[in-house]
Amino acid sequence: MRDTNKLIEKFIKTFGEEPELVTFAPGRVNLIGEHTDYNGGHVFPCALTRGVSCAARRRGDRKLRFASADLRGKIITTDLDSLSPLTRRLWSAYPEGVIHAFLEAGFFIDSGADFLFYGDIPSGVGLSSSAALEVATGVMLREMFGLRLSSERIALLCQRAENRYVGVSCGVMDQFASAMGRADHAVFLDTATLRFDYAPLAMENAEIVIVDSKVKHSLAGSAYNDRRRECEQALEAIKTVLDTDALCHITPDQFEAVKDVIADPVCRKRAKHAVYENARTVAALEALEKNDIFEFGRLMNESHISLRDDYEVSCAELDILTELAWGIPGVIGARMTGGGFGGCMVSIVEKSAVGGFTESVAAGYEAKTGLKPSFIRVRPGDGARKLAF
Ligand code: GLA
Repeated sequence: MRDTNKLIEKFIKTFGEEPELVTFAPGRVNLIGEHTDYNGGHVFPCALTRGVSCAARRRGDRKLRFASADLRGKIITTDLDSLSPLTRRLWSAYPEGVIHAFLEAGFFIDSGADFLFYGDIPSGVGLSSSAALEVATGVMLREMFGLRLSSERIALLCQRAENRYVGVSCGVMDQFASAMGRADHAVFLDTATLRFDYAPLAMENAEIVIVDSKVKHSLAGSAYNDRRRECEQALEAIKTVLDTDALCHITPDQFEAVKDVIADPVCRKRAKHAVYENARTVAALEALEKNDIFEFGRLMNESHISLRDDYEVSCAELDILTELAWGIPGVIGARMTGGGFGGCMVSIVEKSAVGGFTESVAAGYEAKTGLKPSFIRVRPGDGARKLAF
């Protein structure tokens, strides 16, 4: 239903009136820089052309009503005065959380509203459908209530909503990529300062292909928070010998010199990943600027190995996918992407090899796991925006 007219029709069917506005926010795929965004490091995602559309209309009272076109328009109702963090298990916690974050930040939202969402990216597979849902809501609030705030600020408020209202301690990468993406570019973001650059991704002979493993392990949420804690513990130890305020602010050489101060071997491995992954991400930008796509691919492969062995957020299925990909001629680089424990692999594949790649990966993966993966050929898209009216 990227067809805006269909979304509008569905809105009328669900809520009985026309929407005032339609917005869209994309999902994202991270090329490299995984689990660095809560360690003060760099990330390198690009926005997708798929994501979440939102149609909405202000109301004369303080009611908030949310419906999803994918869920047959079932309506969830609350109101502006009942928003309460960490109490919701429903999907509407994401848009509610964004409204709550806007109100807390002092933005004037003086009436309720009806919202209808439609997503065309799979959820829970590491492509940030929840960030897209949040950012589509944030842009809707800005446009519908005439609020003055930048897209960067929207990304930060959406992250706050996810941290405080939904209860997931994520970094800012997903919301930032969704809000700030640019067609045919990746966003090279320093998560410590929020300074960013757009890096052109016009690869003449190669394309980005996402492979969905079709698995999601239940560990994902709690393991994410464990990793954060382990990194914090490693940082505390490092701080006793080095003046730094984030793991990603130290170089691999500095890390090697002081690593033994981290007594716990698990925390030491986690810190090693964060430090080296940040260095790889900076090197990946340099490689891209020099048009050295093969070096970029090599760094992606190293990133996977580090996520698999040191950060331990991969899983058997993602390892099978990457091993398969690495063995296929024309594959420039491949790694798991997103939080991990299932979800997707991102790969860069020579254009002429894409057909063979999808066939071999599908056959090999099905033979080993009994699962049929799905493929998304990526064209980096623009960030969140108003679509209609
Ligand atoms: C999830 C989080 C992000 C980031 C990645 C891992 O997508 O939402 O903030 O930490 O995992 O790189």
